[in-house]
Amino acid sequence: MRTVPVTASRNYEVQIGSGLLPGLGEAARKLTKAKKAAIISETNVWPLYGGVAEKSMNGAGFETVSFVFPAGEASKSGETYLQLVNFLAENQLTRSDLIIALGGGVVGDLAGFAAATYLRGIRFIQVPTTLLAAVDSSVGGKTAIDLPAGKNLCGAFYQPSLVLCDIDTLNTLPPDIFRDGCAEVIKYGILYDPDLFEHLRTRGMEFDREAVITRCVELKRDVVAEDEFDTGARMRLNLGHTVGHGIEAQSHFGISHGSAVAIGTAIVTRAAAVCGICSEETRNTVLEVLETFGLPMSCDYSAEDLYRSALSDKKRSGGTVNLIIPERVGFCRIAPTPVSEIQSFIKAGL
Ligand code: NAD
Ligand code: GLY
Repeated sequence: MRTVPVTASRNYEVQIGSGLLPGLGEAARKLTKAKKAAIISETNVWPLYGGVAEKSMNGAGFETVSFVFPAGEASKSGETYLQLVNFLAENQLTRSDLIIALGGGVVGDLAGFAAATYLRGIRFIQVPTTLLAAVDSSVGGKTAIDLPAGKNLCGAFYQPSLVLCDIDTLNTLPPDIFRDGCAEVIKYGILYDPDLFEHLRTRGMEFDREAVITRCVELKRDVVAEDEFDTGARMRLNLGHTVGHGIEAQSHFGISHGSAVAIGTAIVTRAAAVCGICSEETRNTVLEVLETFGLPMSCDYSAEDLYRSALSDKKRSGGTVNLIIPERVGFCRIAPTPVSEIQSFIKAGL
């Protein structure tokens, strides 16, 4: 097992390794004397891992209740959120009790937001079961639900008390969901770490999962320590996301998040080469790695369509949008870009 300590408004550990889930109860017990724990999960994950999590928690002396909602982004809604907090109240969870978020980013975001707001905040543990959740959403304290007006529009910064990442749970992921997470892993390499990028370039899908997840978590840990509340350096994590969110919206979420991020990354990288911000060699290397992982690099939407979606992105600030643009593998600049220039920039990268 590898451990990454995170320093933020609440300090905690991220534990990464094989065979960790059966030790969830023991790890939780080290943190709290809580009597009760609510395990929050969804319909795909619960049948696979709910029993192990429950048994482990019971074995460590927790009384458990479980809330299992339909899998999928549609459940990250105000409706499910209200059902969940009502469930916590009906089961008399107190401020000294505990929430366990067992699942991917949807479970983590929803359960995290419930933990942040129920009784004005109760402790929670993230148990990520997707690659995306392992390297990104379970770490750093962003929690949210979606509103009809857009994704993640209602949320809170609220750090977990522990992240327990059992990499064995990734073995049951459908290949396309695993590949989606790879887009985020590649993102860390492009943003911060040429060695990580090189490992991914040479190993492809056969990368060392424990080492790579640990490295991504360390990188995210450093960003969160510098900018927990997303006012500066943390924006870099949006590489490929501004255009990517546009692609997701244009496809009515038919194109998955990871695929959209991959296409968005390819577009900004090609545009950066056209504008002389990165070299052709950098552009080719980035595109080559995306291709190695079988990730898409183009879409049928016009620059105008993507531009319109970029304007509705919540990262817009006044008359500018902060684009994250690769200069070289290992460094991307935050470029506040006037709205009037966004469309031509995207067009250059299509
Ligand atoms: P997800 O939670 O919907 O999981 C993807 C799919 O994999 C689902 O069908 C799920 O049922 C299934 N699944 C999960 N674990 C499994 C396992 N071990 N075996 C088999 N199937 C499994 O989606 P995701 O990609 O994990 O997360 C996406 C969500 O994360 C989005 O809502 C996004 O907004 C959010 N997100 C949040 C942050 C953050 O910082 N909070 C960062 C990135 C993304
Ligand atoms: N996933 C982006 C962030 O945590 O800031």
